[in-house]
Amino acid sequence: MSSRPGRHFLQIPGPSNSPDRILAAMAKPTMDHRGPDFGIFGKKLLNDIRGIFRTKQPVIIYPSSGTGAWEAALVNLFQPGDRLLMIETGQFATLWQDLALRLGLDVEFISGDWRRGVQPEEVEEKLKADSGKTIKGICMVHNETSTGATSRVFDVRKAIDAAGHDALFLVDSISGIGCADYRHDEWGVDVTIGGSQKGLMTPPGLGMNVIGPKALQVSQTGGVRRSYWDWAAMLELNSGGYFPYTPATNLLYGLREAIDMLNEEGLENTFVRHERLASAARQAVQAWGLEMQIEVADERSNVLTAVRVPDGCDADHVRAVILKNFDVSLGNGLGKVKGKVFRIGHLGDFNEPMLLGTLAAVETGLRLANVPHQSGGVDAAMRYLADTA
Ligand SMILES: Cc1ncc(COP(=O)(O)O)c(C=O)c1O
Repeated sequence: MSSRPGRHFLQIPGPSNSPDRILAAMAKPTMDHRGPDFGIFGKKLLNDIRGIFRTKQPVIIYPSSGTGAWEAALVNLFQPGDRLLMIETGQFATLWQDLALRLGLDVEFISGDWRRGVQPEEVEEKLKADSGKTIKGICMVHNETSTGATSRVFDVRKAIDAAGHDALFLVDSISGIGCADYRHDEWGVDVTIGGSQKGLMTPPGLGMNVIGPKALQVSQTGGVRRSYWDWAAMLELNSGGYFPYTPATNLLYGLREAIDMLNEEGLENTFVRHERLASAARQAVQAWGLEMQIEVADERSNVLTAVRVPDGCDADHVRAVILKNFDVSLGNGLGKVKGKVFRIGHLGDFNEPMLLGTLAAVETGLRLANVPHQSGGVDAAMRYLADTA
């Protein structure tokens, strides 16, 4: 591979760009993870990460990808044959379902066309129909990274309550946390699943479980035999700031810096920044005359925008043209929408010129790839940014 001048634009919807501050923090020497300094560091980190999830409950951090954190939540709570209600918002909801099926769980999957977020009424209806209360858990994806849909977590909580159901409520906010408003405690979530590599701006490799009191209680007698993922073993050591096995020390340094950066900006300001940049991106897509994957405007994510290419065009070809010519990586279409969409990530350590550069590369790439569209998308985004400056 030959050297390319300038900075590569990593505009996939995660892993996101890690800012220099985080990279520098990670470059510090690894410390003794059983020594006294680590205990002080770990205790503070495990305390402070709770603010990002808006919780007072424990947050477990595994050296794992997000998929590991999905599995951890399921094995601590459920046994083969237990029934789960899951909702098909896109590829990540589908993969979580596949994982549950492999663990022997019995999943009722509310099917979807990948163009909407979770519909709380559908959840309520399914739960009301479960008069024998056989459903043990409800699992949803807060921000569906494959389609760009953000679902209303609190409305789903209200739907569960309206149905009078006592199933545990599990939410994957791997790509929502640090980008979009999220409140583990206030929204009555039992387990939140997180990851380091999206809004938390840290490289991939940390998976998280936020554990509410009801979930903790169920885990004490429930779940399956487990070792690596066991919440109890983690929590015991975490109380002193330590881990039952070697933690991903340098990734934790990065996460420490990320928490500080989010707090310095102010979480609310971070959400407003994401909302504004996402709105500008949507203005561009509209001006191009292209369709967004998510049909309902208020379900469109502030983390990424999935853009459909017209019939007869190949979204992967468009992405390849943009990468080759401009060194900009966009997200590909996954699963059912492979080749039909490309995804623009506008998350994490991201600002106006990065957005405009990305959109300019996309608009030029559309032209180079002969995708029928109107020009003026970048101009529409610039106008929006000027109007909201
Ligand atoms: C919403 C969501 N859930 C789960 C995952 C899986 O995480 P990982 O690839 O880190 O295992 C991803 C990854 O992009 C995701 O976006």
